[in-house]
Amino acid sequence: MLNQWKFYLTVFCAAAAVDSLAQDLPVAPAPWELSVSEGWVFVTPPILSSDFLPPGFANPLEATVERKSGAMIPDIGLIILVRYSETPVDPYDELIWIPGKWAYDTDDKGFRITNIYVSSNASVINGRRNWNIPKHVAKFDWQTSALGVTTVSVSSSGGKPFFSAQLLPTTLPIPIEVNSTLTGDYLTLIQPPLPAGNTTSAPAEIGTDEWVSFLLNTKTKTVAANTIIGNLPGGKLGDGVLYPNIAPLLPVGAKISGTLEFPVPEVLSNL
Ligand SMILES: *[C@@H]1O[C@H](CO)[C@@H](O)[C@H](O)[C@H]1NC(C)=O
Ligand SMILES: *[C@@H]1O[C@H](CO)[C@@H](O)[C@H](O)[C@H]1NC(C)=O
Ligand SMILES: *[C@@H]1O[C@H](CO)[C@@H](O)[C@H](O)[C@H]1NC(C)=O
Repeated sequence: MLNQWKFYLTVFCAAAAVDSLAQDLPVAPAPWELSVSEGWVFVTPPILSSDFLPPGFANPLEATVERKSGAMIPDIGLIILVRYSETPVDPYDELIWIPGKWAYDTDDKGFRITNIYVSSNASVINGRRNWNIPKHVAKFDWQTSALGVTTVSVSSSGGKPFFSAQLLPTTLPIPIEVNSTLTGDYLTLIQPPLPAGNTTSAPAEIGTDEWVSFLLNTKTKTVAANTIIGNLPGGKLGDGVLYPNIAPLLPVGAKISGTLEFPVPEVLSNL
């Protein structure tokens, strides 16, 4: 009898150890409200078809799913950098690329985040689980010079930076409250289900099963103009492998602070 208990206990501990990496990460369901201490948004030129998506538009794990289904329709893309000071899973940093907007046979239309890196595994697992956001963990290095120029480099573990930029203040921040509900459903995101990553080396990269749609809501506190300059060799922003080697339409974009809301998503079961 005692041996039997010991056996059960051993099996239980072994099973728990295998799953412990993902289980140690907090579960933080939608909705999320996040405080943005610093966010930068730059517009990239429209891409008219997924045939023209540049190398690095997605992490290799999601390159197939992020390209398929729906058709790209003319709209802008966005390079976004964010430093969150408050989130349901502690502060973290984020680098996003949205290549543009897709339309579907069901008449649904939405932007798609095809590539995104964050600085914590808790953000990776919950972003994937809650909204199919194809998050991967990366290291963010921030430096600010005496003149207020911010240099940010993003690298995968042990690797060279795959993204690097200098962000130059162009105007002083002015307090402007803009609530994106004014733009109606323009900021709708529609995200395909994700494949799971390597469960040993990246247990936070969980897979999901269904398409989801959600409308982002942001409210700015301050807005300033900032210029972005590519800081990889050759003046590039991305290495064309883990992040696209793209240039913004204009080098000037918005630097903001404020709030961002990620709502409970709608499952699109007919996509
Ligand atoms: C994320 O998880 C992986 C696998 O457990 C680990 O190697 C890595 O150091 C973690 N990264 C961070 C930023 O916690
Ligand atoms: C998963 O990661 C482990 C540890 O890094 C590695 O040994 C293994 O080959 C990887 N598995 C796959 C399927 O890539
Ligand atoms: C923006 O306004 C809407 C409608 O008044 C509100 O529900 C939402 O919470 C506001 N957004 C933020 C981030 O405060």
